[in-house]
Amino acid sequence: MSSTILAIESSCDETSAAIIDNGKVLNNVVASQAIHQKYGGVVPELASRAHQQNIVSVVSEALSTAGVQQSQLSAIAFTRGPGLQGALLVGVSFAKGMALALGIPLIEVNHMQAHVLAHFIDEPKPTFPFLCLTVSGGHTQIVLVKDYPDMTVIGETQDDAAGEAFDKAAKLMGLPYPGGPLIDKYAQLGNPFAFSFSDTVMPNLDFSFSGIKTAFLYFLRDQKLKDPLFIENNLNDICASLQHHLIGMLLKRVEKASKETGIKQIAIAGGVSANSGLRSQLAKTADRLKWQIYIPDFQYCTDNAAMIAMAAHFKFLRNDFCDLSVSPLPNLAIQH
Ligand code: KG4
Ligand code: ZN
Repeated sequence: MSSTILAIESSCDETSAAIIDNGKVLNNVVASQAIHQKYGGVVPELASRAHQQNIVSVVSEALSTAGVQQSQLSAIAFTRGPGLQGALLVGVSFAKGMALALGIPLIEVNHMQAHVLAHFIDEPKPTFPFLCLTVSGGHTQIVLVKDYPDMTVIGETQDDAAGEAFDKAAKLMGLPYPGGPLIDKYAQLGNPFAFSFSDTVMPNLDFSFSGIKTAFLYFLRDQKLKDPLFIENNLNDICASLQHHLIGMLLKRVEKASKETGIKQIAIAGGVSANSGLRSQLAKTADRLKWQIYIPDFQYCTDNAAMIAMAAHFKFLRNDFCDLSVSPLPNLAIQH
């Protein structure tokens, strides 16, 4: 059955739209919201307003650059959750309105499943089963992907997400939001062994990032007592050491998950998977343990509608539609 689907993503601070034609992603239009920078984090109400301002032009651009008329669409897909209630509501309402006006089906997508399915946009595609480390500003999970949509979370953070740890550490160093990409940039110029931090040991495959956040706060405080310009004088080394530590925490659990499940196909997804250190450390671990690894293109790591479109394509093939009474689910989870 041939299909042309418009997908909309609005769960956090990117307004995005993409068109997928018979399983091939044609484009991925993203409007990032710079407004949050001056507040040092995403302000939910401002995110909703910015989605309202951006959504018409983002959707129009996706349609026009793909050369697709509204009348050619087979379905409208949207992110139902997890995410910010007000932000999700903008995408859900817009999708419902369009589906109703065009008389075509609606497809709801789980944002975390979509991060995993971003691996099916480009080659090489993983085969089932595989493990996916999904690391973003709101989530840190190891997902066992047996098939689509058979996904189970086998490990996850019990407190902060890895992206949050990057962003909060950056904030403590006076860097603007989002700090993850900046830590990555400075880390490339520093010594990852200059400073060391201790890991919070969790049972099973779970993570905890709140301890390192506090440890880092005290580390900076103590160092600044000795040298008030400690951060300025050592920024590259601090970033490199902290990043090395955070990556170690992530990969240690993935290694354990691989041993426990016997699965050697390993994927990474979500905003933090854009991190250059994580990518190179993963490649080294893969060499050592004979893993086959899958790393998405940068544009499909952070929030984007192309991954929502990919997930929607799988649902379309199964006639998995939802009705117009659908509402956002801010806490929508992958099964545990
Ligand atoms: O997946 P995403 O775009 O949005 C959420 O669903 O949260 O992830 C955003 C997170 C932010 O915490 C950001 O700092 C982090 O991904 N991030 C990075 C890098 N690029 C984005 N963290 C470390 N290194 C990067 N290069
Ligand atoms: Zn995300």
